[in-house]
Amino acid sequence: MRKNIVAGNWKMNNNLSQTQALISDLKKQNQTSNAEVMIAPPFTNLWHAFEALRQDTIEVVAQNMHFAENGAYTGEVSAAMLKSVGIKTVILGHSERRAYFNETDASLAKKVDSALSNGMRVIFCFGEELADRKAGNEENIVGDQIKNALFHLGADAFQNIVLAYEPVWAIGTGETASPEQAQDMHAFIRKTLSEKYGNEVADEVSILYGGSVKPANAKEIFSKPDVDGGLIGGASLKAEDFFAIVNAF
Ligand code: G3P
Repeated sequence: MRKNIVAGNWKMNNNLSQTQALISDLKKQNQTSNAEVMIAPPFTNLWHAFEALRQDTIEVVAQNMHFAENGAYTGEVSAAMLKSVGIKTVILGHSERRAYFNETDASLAKKVDSALSNGMRVIFCFGEELADRKAGNEENIVGDQIKNALFHLGADAFQNIVLAYEPVWAIGTGETASPEQAQDMHAFIRKTLSEKYGNEVADEVSILYGGSVKPANAKEIFSKPDVDGGLIGGASLKAEDFFAIVNAF
């Protein structure tokens, strides 16, 4: 079901004590909002974060998982392991995983299948590089990423999928996509979904924008008709900034 969502991707930040401090600040500032609120700490902090936020309306999600149920995959964690520590949603396909860990559309399709078959919700990330956009090729790149990793699925699967468009050139750069650029791409994504699965399915999928979302730009970006929230990196590491973005709805 389509909802407003603001998810904080902590990336590789915060040890346990820093996690405890940030969660304490988040709990103090958490209030009724017009968006679902999520945070994605590193694996080492998931259980603590889940326990600390049991009574709060902030969902704790994972930043990644392996497609296998178990086995000889040193350093990896499975969907079942995430579920065992209370995690029901997982981010997959982040550009940093694609770039640094050779994640491909095909390997991501396997991870999506594993997450869904384990009853998890997926926040699926994708986005073009700067060179693609300069060449006017952004829609082909994004369309292929979505089709190659998701279009083997049936329509019902999209009840548990959130899409996150993150132009790589906007991640961590301060170079935010303009609200118009975000809306244009989100509208293209929704059209792509509609052509495959019909309007009813496409209109119910939440599509988040990620890439240098800040308190100063969130309201305008979130005001666009096909933008259903944000996947927030740097600004999610300070409770005040994160909730300024949450409250932009
Ligand atoms: O997953 C969200 C992240 O890629 C965006 O990072 O720091 O540009 O908000 P940032």
